[in-house]
Amino acid sequence: MMDSSPQLKPRRSFLAHLLAVWSGLIAMPIFYGVSRFIYPPPRRSTPVESLTVFPANELPPNMARIVRLNRKPVIILHSPPGQFRALSASCTHLGCTVEYKSADNMFHCNCHGSIFDANGKVVKGPAVLPLEPIRVFIKNTDVTLSIEKD
Ligand code: FES
Repeated sequence: MMDSSPQLKPRRSFLAHLLAVWSGLIAMPIFYGVSRFIYPPPRRSTPVESLTVFPANELPPNMARIVRLNRKPVIILHSPPGQFRALSASCTHLGCTVEYKSADNMFHCNCHGSIFDANGKVVKGPAVLPLEPIRVFIKNTDVTLSIEKD
């Protein structure tokens, strides 16, 4: 006895095609995600060597502000009055962003408790390396960051 009637063949064929299309629709985003992981898209912006960030009079003394330089956080500190310093805001322990506390004039990392002094030197671990200094200067009246080599 035959297991399929002539009427079931088109139906089975249709279901097989439907299953193939459905499998393809499921697989496409997976392949897309894997291919983007293996071959990431090119960066849209080219790295800059210097960046004018804000007018110097916008940051009061004993305050700090975080800006981005080439996608990396940089913390700019106005202390003592009239002097600006810039450091990488990425904690050297595991990369959390540090914050400035004017109460003790230190940079604190809230992830694991590291503390850095105003020059970026480690005061309390677990971080062991200092915050990376970034060159900062006043250009006209604007605070400007630079990673250019002297
Ligand atoms: S990431 Fe800053 S202390 Fe761990």
